Amino acid sequence: MTNLAGKSVLLVISGGIAAYKSLELIRLLRKARTEVRCILTKGGSEFITPLSVSALSEHPVYTDLFSLKDESEMGHIRLSRDADIIIVTPASANLMAKLANGIADDLASTTLLASNKPIFVAPAMNPEMWAKPSTQRNIEILRSDGVQFIGPAAGEMACSETGLGRMIEPQDIFDALQSYFKLSTPLAGKRALVTSGPTYEPIDPVRFIGNRSSGKQGHAIAAALARAGAEVTLVTGHVSLADPVGVRTLHVETASEMLDACQSALPAHIAVCAAAVADWRVENSADQKIKKQTGASTPSLSFIENPDILAEISKSPNRPDLVIGFAAETQDVVKAAQEKLVRKGCDWILANQVGKTDNPVFGTDHNQVTLVSRSNCDEWPPLSKKEVAARLVEAMISHFNDTGTKHDDKPISRPLSSAS
Ligand SMILES: Cc1cc2nc3c(=O)[nH]c(=O)nc-3n(C[C@H](O)[C@H](O)[C@H](O)COP(=O)(O)O)c2cc1C
Repeated sequence: MTNLAGKSVLLVISGGIAAYKSLELIRLLRKARTEVRCILTKGGSEFITPLSVSALSEHPVYTDLFSLKDESEMGHIRLSRDADIIIVTPASANLMAKLANGIADDLASTTLLASNKPIFVAPAMNPEMWAKPSTQRNIEILRSDGVQFIGPAAGEMACSETGLGRMIEPQDIFDALQSYFKLSTPLAGKRALVTSGPTYEPIDPVRFIGNRSSGKQGHAIAAALARAGAEVTLVTGHVSLADPVGVRTLHVETASEMLDACQSALPAHIAVCAAAVADWRVENSADQKIKKQTGASTPSLSFIENPDILAEISKSPNRPDLVIGFAAETQDVVKAAQEKLVRKGCDWILANQVGKTDNPVFGTDHNQVTLVSRSNCDEWPPLSKKEVAARLVEAMISHFNDTGTKHDDKPISRPLSSAS
């Protein structure tokens, strides 16, 4: 797997002969399991069709700043926020001039101006256009604004003139992006196991006992780990979420299946147990559907304890360097989390309070957690589940930076007594 797996790239295609090469770049990125969203300028769409771009990227193509459909589905701000980087291929002289001068008169230039992400450009133009003082001034401005240039190369142009201005080949652009992400993938070389979602414990072939876990938090953590360069295996119960890009995802139903899948994913450096695993399963589950019969007594269920996946991973001979659990509690959250941490033998617990009507957690996009270790805790503000995931991954990165692969309590910033 390349370090582009799980990344999200916003590709802007502007109007130049080399636009067709962007199709090959999309293909290479998709093959590397990179999420690709594309903006096609009006000029760009004179050279390649939105249909080709959409078919290769497997997403709609965005073309119009004032389209109600585009703006409501994925507006210009979100297009830039959801991407890890923005790359313009080919970058026309016109679009570079707009970017250098803060002009925002179409979707591409407005998104670039509104972006808070690294911007790469792969210019392509006639050598005279490239050499013009106005273009050179714009290049100077863009470089000093932090825009990163990939190319251009020298050679024969489509217009049969020779000189500097050819767009760099898609494979070379892909390699440049790989190198960039290698530097920004602090967990490269680490293997991570994440569990997510609920488990279902069968009563009979059609009925089960489940819980309200949506899997949003666990899936967000798996995606954030993959973005940081880790090789991630996600073991998930039944959820209505897409498998995160760049993550090996194993689908299971019961707690026993989840444990087997987790053990198959070890050894790993990191384990995050975010799944809501049923504590018990039905001992007398039926092989055939239990039929309702008039006058017959209602069936009664007996239960036996399920394997404790967090505890099993913590005491495994392949124990990961950092084992993290979740504790959904209805009261005394931090105290309960600290007891759980000792009982299960894990390193950190992310504790959250569930069941309050103003903080339902299950199924929502937000979470308020406290990161608890053996001697410290750090209460985080209310955050989106994606933000919780990003912050947790940052804590892991500083943990590994501080301690190598040893596990201790380091990244937690506040003494336990101050939060309990
Ligand atoms: C056949 C043809 C080829 C062109 N090739 C290029 C090119 O390679 N690079 C460039 O900067 N402009 C090129 N242009 C000019 C741009 O398409 C033009 O400046 C357009 O306004 C760019 O719009 P955009 O930047 O919004 O995509 C070409 C125009 C035509 C008609």
